[in-house]
Amino acid sequence: MNFIDAGVVAREDLAPGYFILRLGGCEALAGALPGQFVMVRGDWGRDPLLPRAISLLEARPDGMAAILVKTVGRGTALLSRATAGARLRVLGPLGTAFPAPDAARQDLLIAGGSGVPPVYLQAARAAAAGRADRVEVFLGGRTAQDLPYATGLERLGVSLHLTTDDGSRGQRGLVTAALERRLDEVGGRPRLMACGPDPMLHAVARIARLRELPCLVSLEAAMACGLGACLGCAVPARSRPFVYVCQDGPVFDAAEVYQ
Ligand SMILES: Cc1cc2nc3c(=O)[nH]c(=O)nc-3n(C[C@H](O)[C@H](O)[C@H](O)COP(=O)(O)OP(=O)(O)OC[C@H]3O[C@@H](n4cnc5c(N)ncnc54)[C@H](O)[C@@H]3O)c2cc1C
Ligand code: FES
Repeated sequence: MNFIDAGVVAREDLAPGYFILRLGGCEALAGALPGQFVMVRGDWGRDPLLPRAISLLEARPDGMAAILVKTVGRGTALLSRATAGARLRVLGPLGTAFPAPDAARQDLLIAGGSGVPPVYLQAARAAAAGRADRVEVFLGGRTAQDLPYATGLERLGVSLHLTTDDGSRGQRGLVTAALERRLDEVGGRPRLMACGPDPMLHAVARIARLRELPCLVSLEAAMACGLGACLGCAVPARSRPFVYVCQDGPVFDAAEVYQ
């Protein structure tokens, strides 16, 4: 697998610290599945040397792809300066994905912060398969500004539950509290799929364990290569001492990585 030379076609600022880059020339990413990611870098010289792992928000057959980025450090700050015409080096699609929507099951998708892309892509996959009614999305953030791409999710026509810690948009409180309330209402055995900050994933995994529900989580870890070569993304697991987030994940059965 080689790096693609992708061109930034458009840039969309969502809220302070969150932006979308739409990329052309990414035919090699077509067919990428929800949860799969790319390693991305710009023409930055040696600082930072390593590309950054970013999930795919979109990967179309015509070569158009999109990523949604939250600025946290130097690499993402450099990415945040990219405007139309900039060139990026992109490697992917990498890693594992959420399972396909199942007509017989309800899927509850939970996202926080920069964890939106896999959840958006999974909801879009269900909508494209005519199964928008089998999916509900829970998107949580600290404030109204931390609900990136809520508009994109609204456009899909799936049921969307928004929460903010300060009540500035949607229900006040944690996204996991909204999830628990909904689980009490829906009954049955829905599948949970989650992507977001580690404490949120931990809480979702715990809810799934206590209610004996199937649960998949998409993890984040510091990544140097994205290809299973540096062993830098190891996390402790149940079935063996370590799993590697880039190669065995990022999507895992929650019981494998959260006990
Ligand atoms: C599989 C995978 C998919 C990802 N998908 C996305 C995505 O779609 N969009 C996106 O914006 N990010 C995503 N990330 C996270 C992204 O890779 C990191 O935010 C990025 O590598 C940080 O690089 P940096 O150079 O900006 O920060 P660094 O300079 O490397 O780090 C700066 C500071 O931020 C902290 N930090 C690093 N990563 C994070 C983080 N994720 N959250 C909070 N603090 C952090 C570091 O501990 C450090 O203190 C993903 C990560 C993985 C592993
Ligand atoms: S990032 Fe190098 S092994 Fe996973």
